[in-house]
Amino acid sequence: MTAEEIVRYVVSRAVWAPSVHNTQPWRFTADGGSQISLYADAARRLAVADPDGREMMISCGAALFTIRLALRSLGYIPETRILPDPAQPDLVAQVSWYERAAADEFERQLSGHVLTRRTHRGAFDPEPLPPDTLAALRTAAAREGAALRIVADDGRRATLATAVQTAEYQLRRDGERLRELARWTPAPGSAHCDGVPVTSYPARAEHTQPFFPGRDFARGHGWGMPPLSPATSHRAAGVALLLTTTADRPADWVHAGQALQRILLTASVCGAAMALHSQPLELPWLREFLRTQLGDGAYPHLVLRIGLVTQVAVTVRRDPGAVLFPTGDDRAGRTLG
Ligand SMILES: Cc1cc2nc3c(=O)[nH]c(=O)nc-3n(C[C@H](O)[C@H](O)[C@H](O)COP(=O)(O)O)c2cc1C
Repeated sequence: MTAEEIVRYVVSRAVWAPSVHNTQPWRFTADGGSQISLYADAARRLAVADPDGREMMISCGAALFTIRLALRSLGYIPETRILPDPAQPDLVAQVSWYERAAADEFERQLSGHVLTRRTHRGAFDPEPLPPDTLAALRTAAAREGAALRIVADDGRRATLATAVQTAEYQLRRDGERLRELARWTPAPGSAHCDGVPVTSYPARAEHTQPFFPGRDFARGHGWGMPPLSPATSHRAAGVALLLTTTADRPADWVHAGQALQRILLTASVCGAAMALHSQPLELPWLREFLRTQLGDGAYPHLVLRIGLVTQVAVTVRRDPGAVLFPTGDDRAGRTLG
């Protein structure tokens, strides 16, 4: 493959990373050599929900992990520099590749799930996870400089669910936040290639004990997918988890994002699905509460749930060509599509 082909392949994979509200807050530049630069697209930051850009950087971190994995799947050893230029805070990372080493079996498996992994929204089947799944997820987080805390104790799990409920209750009453959410929640039949499409969330919440409410993507329109399973069947909340880092600088957010994508892909390889809840992390007082009460002082970034379920969600992405530019091309600084 030529350097140009490698870059195009890598970006075509990276765009499938998860991002908050599917904002896809990234763009990529390459100069024809063995290096790709990943920039945060600040025009796609959630100005109200994410004033510091933490969720934007987590999203870019997830794209960065996907770049590294794509290079590994081609048999290259990625060399990564995170936030390499203090004068360019939007330059999230530069990744180059010179040395070669064949991908191992697990890297190949992770790579095989990049295009098919989907965020789950709702309850899970009651069956237990395959053995060793949680241990694999914890290892995944640690390998990327983050930690995954399993919130197993009933009391702590209820506290976590209450935090998500409290946040969701508050967010649904905040007009500014609702207007921002509306920008990223297109109506059925929309041709948008970003945002959260109606094909990716359930029309009705599935109640579980304890209850971790999802975001109100439908905003009262009744949009969403009909339930797959009869309402009478037993549905579970899944295993609740908290993703944390020991510090809270932009570099830690990028690490959290890399950990997130490694965790999500590992879960997918294990045959499990994951639900993401960032509602309580968008309210500073609740984030601080989770840090002190459930995070042992480490900084929380996401509440996650994992379980088994049949997934039917369909999501969307922008074309890789809309986010990849030659180095120095001034369109790289503008938001397209
Ligand atoms: C930082 C971050 C926060 C997220 N928060 C939520 C959330 O609160 N609720 C939710 O349903 N999905 C959440 N997501 C998942 C995104 O909505 C999802 O990645 C995006 O819509 C693309 O869909 P996909 O993951 O199925 O490819 C979050 C993702 C990231 C990276």
